[in-house]
Amino acid sequence: MEVTVSRKAHFNAAHRLYVPDWPDTKNSQFFGKCNNPNYHGHNYELIVSVKGKIDPITGYVIDMGYLKQLIKNEIEERLDHKNLNLDVPYFSNVVPSAENISVYIYDILRNELDKDLSLSVRLYETPRNFVEYSG
Ligand code: NI
Repeated sequence: MEVTVSRKAHFNAAHRLYVPDWPDTKNSQFFGKCNNPNYHGHNYELIVSVKGKIDPITGYVIDMGYLKQLIKNEIEERLDHKNLNLDVPYFSNVVPSAENISVYIYDILRNELDKDLSLSVRLYETPRNFVEYSG
C-alpha cells in the first residue's frame, strides 16, 4: 500500500526569459512580459509530493520534518529572493522557465531521497499557471 504525502513551500524569485541567439524583437514577441530586460518577480508556490510505503512501525511514508528541512536547505536557500538568471549558475545557460525550474528542483531532491520513494514536483508560477515534473 503506497500513500502520497505532500509538502507546500514558497519562494520569491526574479527571472528573465530569453533565447540569447534570437533577436530582441523575436524574444519580446515570444516571451512577452517575461522578456522584460530588467527582470521581474514571481511568487512561486512549490508542492513536493513523495509516494511510498507506510512504515509499519512509525506509520510514516517520510518524516515531514525531514522533508520540510530538505526543501528549506536545498531549494529555498538556493532560490528564495534570488535572480535566477544571475544568481543561480544552473540558469546561466538554461532558460529559467517554470518547466526548467521544476526539473532543477526535482533533480536536487531526487538525489537526496530514498530510492524506494517516488517524487513529484508541482510548481506554480502564478495561481493559475503551474507545471509538474515526476522524472
Ligand atoms: Ni516570468
